[in-house]
Amino acid sequence: MCPDRDLNARPGFFLTFEGLDGSGKTTQIRRLTDTFDSDGTPYLVTRQPGGTAFGDRIRALLLDSKSEGLAPRTELAMMFADRAQAIQEVIAPALAADKLVICDRFTDSTEAYQGGGRNLGSDLVLSLHRLICGDLQPDLTILLLPDLQASLARARRRNTRKSRRGSKKDESRFEAEHDAFFLRVYEKYREIAAREHQRVVIIEGELDVDEVHARVMKAISERLKQWQTQSANSA
Ligand code: TMP
Repeated sequence: MCPDRDLNARPGFFLTFEGLDGSGKTTQIRRLTDTFDSDGTPYLVTRQPGGTAFGDRIRALLLDSKSEGLAPRTELAMMFADRAQAIQEVIAPALAADKLVICDRFTDSTEAYQGGGRNLGSDLVLSLHRLICGDLQPDLTILLLPDLQASLARARRRNTRKSRRGSKKDESRFEAEHDAFFLRVYEKYREIAAREHQRVVIIEGELDVDEVHARVMKAISERLKQWQTQSANSA
């Protein structure tokens, strides 16, 4: 995609969630959308890879443990192919229509996993992001960083449970990576958070689900209120 307009000049609010596998993102996004449902805040939730019909096919290929021998640059290009489709089909139209978009992972994941984990470096990822995604930036990113070993243990237990239940969906390719890979991902996330401290809010440590939810709400509420006021004034 070669965007012909400035994707960052949009009325909507773009909120992303980031973190290692097993960091509790899915649970926290569900808690957040439950809260929005009960107070009547409209939103749209999507995820990466996936979130479009074509993206779901890319996701299946990327996460399937049978996709062996994938070159790191192939993996990187597929993440951006997925993202270009999601931006064009879902994210950009929703932001242009003044909506709140919640995305489970975005380019910070590519920088952490492919840039850090696969050692491709941040520069390549960020250059591709500018070229392919028009440098679209989230308004706010919640980065969940519980203890590294505890996250990995949760992610691996979840996959074992899924395969015991006979789930046909195999999404374990990344979780099968060794600990050194995840340590690089973890460190890259910390580096991104330090560099992008205006945008990224880190929630660290082994906290219970309610405590993390309370911190997510605290991080989001103020910025969301500002955006809602701006939207109402320009309507
Ligand atoms: P999840 O949907 O359960 O979070 O799993 C997606 C997996 O894909 C997770 O292991 C992280 C990985 N991933 C990347 O490696 N790069 C990316 O750009 C994205 C979006 C995800």
